[in-house]
Amino acid sequence: MTTSTIPVAGVDPYDVLVGRGILSELANALGANVRKVLIVHPPTLGARAERLRSLLSEHVEAILAEVPDAEAGKRVEVAAFCWQVMGQSDFTRTDAVIGFGGGAVTDLAGFVAATWLRGVRLIQVPTTVLGMVDAAIGGKTGINTAEGKNLVGSFYAPSAVVVDLDVLEGISPMETLAGFGEVVKYGFIAEPEILDIIERDVATATNPESDEFRRLVELSIGIKARVVGADFREAGEREFLNYGHTLGHAVEFAERYQWRHGAAVSVGMMFAAELARLTGRLSDDIVDRHRSILTSLQLPVTYPAGRWNTLLSVMRRDKKARGDLLRFIVLDALARPTVLNGPDESLLFAAYQEIGS
Ligand code: GLY
Repeated sequence: MTTSTIPVAGVDPYDVLVGRGILSELANALGANVRKVLIVHPPTLGARAERLRSLLSEHVEAILAEVPDAEAGKRVEVAAFCWQVMGQSDFTRTDAVIGFGGGAVTDLAGFVAATWLRGVRLIQVPTTVLGMVDAAIGGKTGINTAEGKNLVGSFYAPSAVVVDLDVLEGISPMETLAGFGEVVKYGFIAEPEILDIIERDVATATNPESDEFRRLVELSIGIKARVVGADFREAGEREFLNYGHTLGHAVEFAERYQWRHGAAVSVGMMFAAELARLTGRLSDDIVDRHRSILTSLQLPVTYPAGRWNTLLSVMRRDKKARGDLLRFIVLDALARPTVLNGPDESLLFAAYQEIGS
């Protein structure tokens, strides 16, 4: 099957390329002027990063920067290590950074590219489902501080995103299913065909080698591309992508980041669905559809009762809260998201009781 090209509009437009065995297209995506590239990758992808380095070496000088995986890599010391490698290798403004890894690695690589010499070319090559459908697209880059996640960063558009489904070979089924938290999110906020495909045959839909899987990834990227193309800096519609994330982020914090992001978002979407039902927006059918689809993907739909006060205080600190008011994305109907601003606390507690285990 051929490579699909999904354009992302905006001040700095770029393409997302999707296909199988397409890492060789990276050299073209780099552009003619690039002489050096820094490939930022986690230890688990060392052998693959080396293959990528040798592939690119026919065209450019490629240098590897191995960084800690997951949140441990999103630290200023790790960014400083990358800057040091670039400085010692005489990286200029026309050179490039490649983010080769999951969402944490592409966030870090994006931040390094955005800050080196006030910005060099960035190519994102996500290697997880979550990275492919969400983190690597849209230009959110950043690192964490001791005070919280993603507190330092910038919006910085990549020059291209290369989604090679073959890099998912060997990925654990649990990792794939966790990535589906975001895929389901797109289904509810924008594209019901996603839900239909998963409901038709969940095993085929989640098999990275199937055409259905590719279709789901392409549909998800299409939605993300459209939304971030219209609202790069999250002044409006982009906030809808946070469906399930207000409570989801609080769950991640309460679980000391031991839960996968998609699992926390799954509980968060269930909560948002119950909230919408309690405010008279959503029918029982659509709330039940959330529960059955997420359960079919082995994602959690309940959370232990008795932890409400912790979650509420974390949500209050959520950087997406404006002033004192909590904001939730809820659905008016399937594919009709809206903002629920400052809901009554008793309503929130009632929704929490609906998902209590
Ligand atoms: N992950 C949500 C966004 O990129 O806006």
